[in-house]
Amino acid sequence: MKVVMTVNGRRLEHDVEPRLLLVQHLRDGLGLTGTHIGCETGLCGACTVLCDGVAIKSCMMLAVQADGAAITTIEGLERDGKLDPVQEGFWECHGLQCGFCTPGMILAARDLLNRNPHPSEREVRRGLEGNLCRCTGYQHIVDAVLWAAGPAGGSAAAGATAGPSAPSQAPRAPGRPS
Ligand code: FES
Ligand code: FES
Repeated sequence: MKVVMTVNGRRLEHDVEPRLLLVQHLRDGLGLTGTHIGCETGLCGACTVLCDGVAIKSCMMLAVQADGAAITTIEGLERDGKLDPVQEGFWECHGLQCGFCTPGMILAARDLLNRNPHPSEREVRRGLEGNLCRCTGYQHIVDAVLWAAGPAGGSAAAGATAGPSAPSQAPRAPGRPS
């Protein structure tokens, strides 16, 4: 089936198998291997990307379901050579160890800050509860997101990836949000 989607600002058209997962299309079809595959069952959040500005788990969505959508992966988060404040926060606060969960964590956090630019620590923890980390114990990840939301992070909600307003919640397990 033909799918047309905008990935990190580039309009792309491909023929894909109807059964192909979005995460497989991103990694194997487009070479965007920053999107990781952990569980493939919607539990770990390693595959989180933004779909029309909203964090989704790309192992729970078919590529054909993303037809017409705008997808942002970790490779497309910086703008004009400048890291997103969430990326800077992970840098400044040592929000990673092995880095496997990090792209998904960052995109989930970006979605959270788009909806809630100044979250409390509790809201950050709740916002990231759909993303698992095997290494850090989470504290530095939470610190990184709070850094991005604070004065040092600048305008936490700024950026082309800002999506529509929505209630605070973890990345959606199934495909596209309604
Ligand atoms: Fe674990 Fe998608 S790979 S939620
Ligand atoms: Fe290793 Fe999170 S930094 S899984």
